[in-house]
Amino acid sequence: MSVVTIAREGEIAVVAVNNPPVNALGQMLRQGLWDAVGALDADPSVRAVVLICEGRTFIAGADVTEFGKPPVPPHLPDLVDCIEGAAKPWVAAIHGSALGGGFEIAMGCRFRIALDGASVGLPEVGLGIVPGASGTVRTPRLAGVEAAVELVTSGKPVKAAKAAPLGLVDAVVTGDLRSEAISFARAALERPLPPPISRRPVEAPEPGFWERQEKAIWKRARGEIAPLRALACLRKAVEADFSDAMAFERATFLELRSSEQAAALRHVFFAERAAGRPSHLAAAEPLPIRLAGVVGGGTMGAGIAVALSDAGLPVVLVERDGEAVEKGLSNIRNVYDGAVKRGRMTPDTAAERLSRVTGTTDYAALADADLVIEAVFEEIGVKRAVFGELGRICRPDAVLATNTSYLDPRLIAEGLPNPERFIGLHFFSPANVMKLLEIVPVPETAPAVVATGFALGRMLGKIPVQAGICEGFIGNRILKRYRASAEALVRQGVAIDAIDAAMRAYGFAMGPFEAQDLGGLDIAFLQREGARAAGQDVAETLGDILVRVGRKGQKTGGGWYDYAAGDRTPHPSTAVAELLSSQINGKADLSAKEIAESLVGEMAEEGAAILSEGVARQASDIDLVEIHGYGFPRWRGGPMFATRSK
Ligand code: 3HC
Ligand code: NAI
Repeated sequence: MSVVTIAREGEIAVVAVNNPPVNALGQMLRQGLWDAVGALDADPSVRAVVLICEGRTFIAGADVTEFGKPPVPPHLPDLVDCIEGAAKPWVAAIHGSALGGGFEIAMGCRFRIALDGASVGLPEVGLGIVPGASGTVRTPRLAGVEAAVELVTSGKPVKAAKAAPLGLVDAVVTGDLRSEAISFARAALERPLPPPISRRPVEAPEPGFWERQEKAIWKRARGEIAPLRALACLRKAVEADFSDAMAFERATFLELRSSEQAAALRHVFFAERAAGRPSHLAAAEPLPIRLAGVVGGGTMGAGIAVALSDAGLPVVLVERDGEAVEKGLSNIRNVYDGAVKRGRMTPDTAAERLSRVTGTTDYAALADADLVIEAVFEEIGVKRAVFGELGRICRPDAVLATNTSYLDPRLIAEGLPNPERFIGLHFFSPANVMKLLEIVPVPETAPAVVATGFALGRMLGKIPVQAGICEGFIGNRILKRYRASAEALVRQGVAIDAIDAAMRAYGFAMGPFEAQDLGGLDIAFLQREGARAAGQDVAETLGDILVRVGRKGQKTGGGWYDYAAGDRTPHPSTAVAELLSSQINGKADLSAKEIAESLVGEMAEEGAAILSEGVARQASDIDLVEIHGYGFPRWRGGPMFATRSK
């Protein structure tokens, strides 16, 4: 079947695109649209053209799978010019998303109308590139410089309702998009046509605008190059004429397309899309989830309940006594109050989501739950008691999950009737925000239950990754190696703040020591103490030395750094230097680059061990864990990608 078909509604031609799954602009589609312009220009019975797409979305962009290959004509910028130069006006009728090259095609059209709920955007910076078919040149001419800078440098799409007042779309419609677009085209023919976008003037911003933007973007980007290069293109679009700006944009696009950052971001793009539907579970049918339960309403349980309710599920929260139920519900209320306060949610939506969660001390309320997630204290006895109750009360086919971080899920599940429905679902804190979900089956877990974990991940908008059983699963195991390696550098005489600065320069929001001070050093300490008490040989860490004198992080006024009261700024600590002096041998002189390479190398080595043991199924899963759970810079592609041999 052809990817482009043409139908007639009287004097209006309707060009329909059908290139599943997302109508990406592969060569066949570009050629189809190119030919359609020629055919319709030559047809005297046609006065205007509606461009519409079948399937779930308008054209979602260039075909990213073509990026590694030599470009084949017709090239996208030429196609956009060709549509703009058509003898008949084209109207883009947008549903789903008009993204990247898709929105650039829409800007080649004389008009854009969008279905309510559709969105438009230029997400190219998220792929390490800039728009390459006039996005940086036409957008400021269409919507002004400020809107263009926001759209292009953030990469975030905007919904039709917001796009209309910005001028990005001409009308927002409801109902049948095709007939609305045809009526729009007919009405447009009654009035003088607006000039094509390339001929519209662009107003220069006030003095200092570019410098301010550059500073803000540089700060946000933390080493990512595309947003700043996109800003340079936008500036050129305002300061040079159309064709010079186009040439500048094209050169930037082609240069970045073959950059290391773009390769890394493409790797993450495809890994993320593959994550939700692993091929080894293709034959497994997930179980339906209509009612969820959470046991434990502390930090994690409350966050998990919010995530479930946000996805539209009714949630029963079970706590150990009335007071704890109230505390759990108030933890959840605080999350929603915060969202309302920050303008992220309307009070009505927050109230509706809160009302979906009911709290109780009575396990009987879980009798009909399809899924129950346990998030009680990290103690094997407490967890086993909880699963004892769940085994007694829940339906035999209900999926029962533990959120344990370090305990062996096999021990938690011991004695549980129908152990094939048991699984680890390891959320990250805050559970309603963090995208990563580690899915940890035990040997008995049925494939349908693993598939249910993945389906839940998709439902909650998470990135699900399957992990095997070992201490810390994938993420916390690598974190342990990372921290131990950072401590090893300190022992060699590298300054604590030099290590943190090096990892920030690499692209992390925080270095390993600052991050521990924020989260608290005591949790990992207690875990090590527990292992020591159980007879394991766990070497004394530098962190242990600090915790033993009460330095547990920001909450105690000091950890690896000192903090002034009420201030989160870390100050290198002479007390810490003294405490650790006997442990430091030498004065290693490493550059920031050497420090980062050494620590990322250690992460990747642990990742390789994890892979060889079968704890992770593929290297890209390890990259996703680090990016979505531990702040690894996305544009570096994750530790496995960043250290691959090219
Ligand atoms: N090229 C090739 N394949 C693409 C694609 C693209 N631009 N966008 C999505 N796909 C593929 C995905 O890999 C996935 O394939 P799979 O089924 O084999 O795993 C399939 O389409 C469906 O994608 P999603 O799972 O993401 O589908 P959703 O319905 O959840 O989301 C979407 C749809 C919002 C369109 C989302 O796919 C998306 O954001 N796509 C990327 C859009 C983008 O970045 N466009 C800019 C491209 S660069 C460009 O246009 C350069 C130009 O300026 C020259
Ligand atoms: P928390 O101490 O904040 O909350 C635990 C809650 O469980 C408390 O509200 C407590 O009243 C409740 N509880 C205890 N026994 C109970 C019982 N028998 N029945 C019902 N409720 C009971 O602990 P947190 O941080 O939420 O951790 C919970 C689990 O999540 C642990 O297994 C932890 O390892 C894991 N986890 C924690 C992360 C974190 O960053 N805090 C991250 C990922 C997992």
